[in-house]
Amino acid sequence: MNEVTCVWQIPALLGEGPLWVAQENALYWVDILQRQVHRLEPASGHQRSWTFAEPITSLVQRQAGGFVGTTPDGFVTVDFESQTVAPIVLPEAHLPHNRFNDGKVDGYGRYWSGTMHKHEHEASGTLYRLDPDLSLHTMDTGYIITNGPAFSVDGKTMYHNDSVKGFVYAFDLQKDGTVGGKRPFTKLTFSENGAPDGMTVDSENCLWLAHYGGARLTRLAPSGEILQVVPLPVPNVTSCTFGGPQLDTLYITTAAQNMSPAELEKYPLSGSLFAYQPGVKGLPAAQFAG
Ligand code: BGC
Ligand code: CA
Repeated sequence: MNEVTCVWQIPALLGEGPLWVAQENALYWVDILQRQVHRLEPASGHQRSWTFAEPITSLVQRQAGGFVGTTPDGFVTVDFESQTVAPIVLPEAHLPHNRFNDGKVDGYGRYWSGTMHKHEHEASGTLYRLDPDLSLHTMDTGYIITNGPAFSVDGKTMYHNDSVKGFVYAFDLQKDGTVGGKRPFTKLTFSENGAPDGMTVDSENCLWLAHYGGARLTRLAPSGEILQVVPLPVPNVTSCTFGGPQLDTLYITTAAQNMSPAELEKYPLSGSLFAYQPGVKGLPAAQFAG
């Protein structure tokens, strides 16, 4: 499979947050706008979906078992059996024009997730860090859409982007969870390349970046040099993660939101889940230590 393959044809409005759960040999991913979580067992092709009362915008495993995630207002525990969530901390419950978006755990078991302006034009988004002791820390502000936290193999660099501003930023990440040295890592021009969306780092320390509106994934060296471009058959590529028993398969989410009937006819697989074997492996997703 070194071609991009559609592994679940479905018109997700906003497919996002792919998470490989090794114990289950299953890929979980969310459709934020339809309040759904989807699960695929690639070996058997078995599919399952849950609908929640509110969107799960990102999902991670908990070291103690089970899942935690983010809803529009903040961090929650997620229970699939009852299809319910329970709050951990809801820092933006008072901000109706914002919602949480992407999120990821770093090598120390801390959960990083940020917020965005729902109408995508005010810089009201904040990046938060939830520590294993459940204390919450505001780490950066001024984002229109926070997206794609990802961490270098040595854990010393964090990548995080503002999709509307077009920047992927790099930060120096300290052991104690503080960040410094924020700098532009790469900048996309929307009309040419789309917007930077979800990201993951492979075992060779290169960054895989989803291009929303840009119909592709790119692989970037730590220097920022583009090493590979992988075209997708749909415009809105939202996120990617490594999965499969060997962690050799990129699972790629996409979105059908905001497309006209003519565009949907031209790109009928919009919203579907795709897979691609790039010839390099990923690393297991870190689990929340709280
Ligand atoms: C957000 C969407 C947004 C898209 C654009 C996604 O991560 O969830 O709301 O339209 O990024 O970059
Ligand atoms: Ca995203």
